[in-house]
Amino acid sequence: MVIDLLKSHASVRSYTDERLSIETVRELVSAGQHAASSHFVQAYSVIHATDEAVREKLGEFSKNPHQFNGAGAALIFCADFHRLQAAAAMHDRSIDFTHAEALLVGTIDVALFAQNIAIAAESKGYGICYIGGVRNNPADISKLLKLPDGVVPMFGMTIGVPAKVNEVKPRLPVDAVLHENMYDASNFEEVLREYDTTMTTYYETRSSNQKLAGWTEQMADFLESPQRPYMKEFLRDQGFKFE
Ligand SMILES: Cc1cc2nc3c(=O)[nH]c(=O)nc-3n(C[C@H](O)[C@H](O)[C@H](O)COP(=O)(O)O)c2cc1C
Repeated sequence: MVIDLLKSHASVRSYTDERLSIETVRELVSAGQHAASSHFVQAYSVIHATDEAVREKLGEFSKNPHQFNGAGAALIFCADFHRLQAAAAMHDRSIDFTHAEALLVGTIDVALFAQNIAIAAESKGYGICYIGGVRNNPADISKLLKLPDGVVPMFGMTIGVPAKVNEVKPRLPVDAVLHENMYDASNFEEVLREYDTTMTTYYETRSSNQKLAGWTEQMADFLESPQRPYMKEFLRDQGFKFE
């Protein structure tokens, strides 16, 4: 049942030595491509890092060496307007992806593509973990992967046979995220307190990396100051100028 599979997701950060074959990666990517795509632009590419030296550099640049080196497959997901530029050039035309909307379209497209791949991989018994750490050093990663103008690395994903399976993390109550007819924040304090209790119990009792923490305070700690403030300039350098 697809819903049971979705609800059993837990990121996997430790894999056996088994590598995914090229055929398996191609099968997963093909499933990913069947995600919906805004205006059918298919504005994404994925780099499959098979060379050990490239994987090592990705681990170093993203500050995730353990995950990149140990994974059965290492993928870097990019929003991609370069191929669309090539499509337009076939008609002696050029495209404009300098506006913020283009970046949103590429970001949404690549996320849907990636999540389809994640579900396809999990349906075959693999574990996955997204690696936003790719944006810790997007310029060096872009140089390493020879990403052209119009292509930005958004996140990575490791896939492999799980060596260690984590407990499923409880999500926010449905009542915190589902609104009827209009946005309603009136129950937030109540549901967020309830969720803090749930998460504190989860963190205290999970089998590894136990800690004493609620969710709301962790979010306050994380979001109090801006993350990766260099991203705007990096995106501009890759051609996304936010005009
Ligand atoms: C875009 C994105 C980037 C992420 N980056 C990382 C990462 O760099 N390292 C990591 O260990 N987990 C990363 N994660 C995994 C999240 O920490 C994880 O999904 C979240 O804590 C929920 O846990 P679960 O996936 O086990 O349910 C990322 C997830 C997403 C969606």
